[in-house]
Amino acid sequence: MPFEWHPDDPPPSIEPHSLAKLRVLRSYLRAYFDRLNVRPQREEFRLDLVDGFAGGGLFLDGAAEVSGTPLVMLEEADQANVRLNMNRRKQLHINCKFYFVDKERAHTDHLRKVLRERGHDVEDNRIIVRNGLFESEIEGILASVRQRQPRAGRAIFLLDQKGFSQVELALVARIFSELPAAEVILTFAADALVNFLGQSLETPQMVSPLQLTESQLHDLVQHRDGNGGRALLQRTLRGHIRTATGAIYDTPFFIRPRQSRRALWFLHLSKHPTARDVMIQRHWEFQNTFQHYGPGDFGMLGWDALKDPNALPLFQFGELDEQQMLTGLLESLPSKLFGLLSEHPVTIDALRHMFANQTAARFSDLDLIILKLVREREFDILNPEGKVRSRSLQRLASTDRVALPSTLLFPELSRR
Ligand SMILES: C[S@@+](CC[C@H](N)C(=O)[O-])C[C@H]1O[C@@H](n2cnc3c(N)ncnc32)[C@H](O)[C@@H]1O
Repeated sequence: MPFEWHPDDPPPSIEPHSLAKLRVLRSYLRAYFDRLNVRPQREEFRLDLVDGFAGGGLFLDGAAEVSGTPLVMLEEADQANVRLNMNRRKQLHINCKFYFVDKERAHTDHLRKVLRERGHDVEDNRIIVRNGLFESEIEGILASVRQRQPRAGRAIFLLDQKGFSQVELALVARIFSELPAAEVILTFAADALVNFLGQSLETPQMVSPLQLTESQLHDLVQHRDGNGGRALLQRTLRGHIRTATGAIYDTPFFIRPRQSRRALWFLHLSKHPTARDVMIQRHWEFQNTFQHYGPGDFGMLGWDALKDPNALPLFQFGELDEQQMLTGLLESLPSKLFGLLSEHPVTIDALRHMFANQTAARFSDLDLIILKLVREREFDILNPEGKVRSRSLQRLASTDRVALPSTLLFPELSRR
C-alpha cells in the first residue's frame, strides 16, 4: 500500500499527483471563502467541511512535512478568518465545523495526534474525528449540517477515495438531495479503473458502486489502453455521474501525472454554475497540472471525435490551449447565440448556466468573446431596462441581456 498512517510511525511519502490535488484543494477553498464573503455587512459565515476519506493528516515530501486534506481545510478556514477581517470595520466570524472520517483506526489515531500537535482540540464540537465507514457516518453528518444550518446548508464534501470503487454514487445523490448548496469533490484512480476493467470479462462486482450499464462497461473494456481509455472513461463516466448524483455542473479533469503514469481523475460536482467557475479558474491557475481529451471550446465534449480516441488533442490549460480555446469560441459562439436569441434576448447569467458544462472557459473568457462580438456588431447588449448599451463597454453584468442586433432585422430602425 503506498500510504498508510500509524501513530508510532513517520508519515508516508507523498506522491506527485497527491501534491497537485492538495494544491488545488487549498486554492479552491481560499477562493471559495473570498468569493462568498464579498459583502462587508456580513457578520457570520457558516460552512461545514466534510473529509469522508480523511487519511492520517500528514505526508512527507523528502524531509518536509506536507499537510493532508484535513489540515488543509483547517488551515484555510483559519487563514480566511485573518485575511477577510483585515480591512473590515465589522468583524466577520468564520464559523466552520469539520468532520473527518476514516475507516482505519490507525489513520484516525494518527490524525488525532497531528491535530493535537498543532493545538487543535479534537474533542470539542468544532472538529469531529470519526473512525468508521463514510457510508455509515453520512446520515449523522447530514443531520448535523442541517441542524447547524437549516437554511443555507452550505457544505463541501471531499471524497478522496483510494482507487475507484469506495464511493457509492447513491451517497453523493443523497448529499445533493438533502443539501442543494453542497459541493462534492470526488477522486477516481482513472488508470487503475481502466486497467481493472480490461482484466475481467464479467461485470465486476467491484465497480457496482459506479452503477455502470453493461454497454458502458463494454465500451470501457474495448478502449482501455493509453489515452484512449482515459478519454473514454471521461466520456462514459461524466454524464453518467451527473445523472446518477443529481449534480448539474462539473469540472471533470485529470491530474496530469509527471513522474508517475497513474492519472487521478478529479471531479468537482455542484448545483451552481458559480461554484463550477471558481473551480475551473483553479485549473487555469495551475497550468499543465490538469488535462482532458478534446479541445477547450464547445468541442470540449464533442465526443464524435472519440471514434479514434488516441487522436484526440490533449488539453492542458496552457497558454497555447487558451489561445486555441478563445479562437474556437469566437468561431462557434455566434452560431450558438443566433439560435438562442432568435426568440428573445437572453441574460448573461442564463448563458453562463447553459454553457458551463460545455467548455473549459471561465465566465470571464465567455464575457471576453461576447464583448468582442458586440464590438464587431454581431450582437447588442441590452441593460435590464431594455436599452442598448454602448459597443465600447468593458464589462458585462450578469443581468445584461444579449440580443440580435436591431440593424440585422430592421435596418431602417437602426439605433446606430
Ligand atoms: C487517498 S486516502 C486519503 C488521503 C487524504 N485525503 C489526503 O490527501 O490527505 C484514502 C483514505 O480513505 C480511507 N477509506 C477507504 N475506504 C473508506 C470508507 N469507506 N470510509 C471511510 N474511509 C475510507 C482509507 O483508510 C484511506 O485513509
